[in-house]
Amino acid sequence: MQNSNFVVEQPSTKQDFEAYYHLRYHVLRKPWRQPLGSELDETDNTSIHAFIKNNDIAIACSRLHFVDETTAQIRYMAVHPNYQGKGLGKLVVNYLEGISKKNNRTKIILHARENAVKFYENCGYTVKETSYLLFGEIQHYLMDKIV
Ligand SMILES: CC(C)(COP(=O)(O)OP(=O)(O)OC[C@H]1O[C@@H](n2cnc3c(N)ncnc32)[C@H](O)[C@@H]1OP(=O)(O)O)[C@@H](O)C(=O)NCCC(=O)NCCS
Repeated sequence: MQNSNFVVEQPSTKQDFEAYYHLRYHVLRKPWRQPLGSELDETDNTSIHAFIKNNDIAIACSRLHFVDETTAQIRYMAVHPNYQGKGLGKLVVNYLEGISKKNNRTKIILHARENAVKFYENCGYTVKETSYLLFGEIQHYLMDKIV
């Protein structure tokens, strides 16, 4: 999938995964002074990861995991601050939606940070309910989409 020069791919090498988790940490954990390692969870090993690279640096990333036979979940969506607002987040979401559909998971759920709700609405997601509060301050909203 391409947006001018940018291609969404799945990390495959050790270097890819280091770049991928580095971006996740720096965008989603470090600003809240969370320790290195807090960007990982137990379902990473069984998830499908997607990212966009620029000169071996990850500039957008996210992942998909299957919740059950019909539903998948997108988590850890992050775009490098210098590359936000250029359509990269949407490219990654579209890519993961394609994978979900191919695997017969036609419903996608996610817990959106408050600042990302408009982005996901733009991608066709609907707010279902207020979800959890992360680090005591980041309100999340459960959203879904049929793909
Ligand atoms: C939220 C985030 C993933 C969006 O990625 P992005 O690459 O900046 O977004 P895109 O450029 O792909 O935006 C896609 C569309 O959503 C719209 N959009 C994105 N953010 C928006 C916002 N805050 N308000 C309104 N519209 C927004 C864009 O205008 C664009 O619209 P268009 O397709 O009509 O031109 C990114 O800004 C980010 O990483 N933020 C910090 C981390 C974060 O909050 N992650 C989400 C965790 S749930």
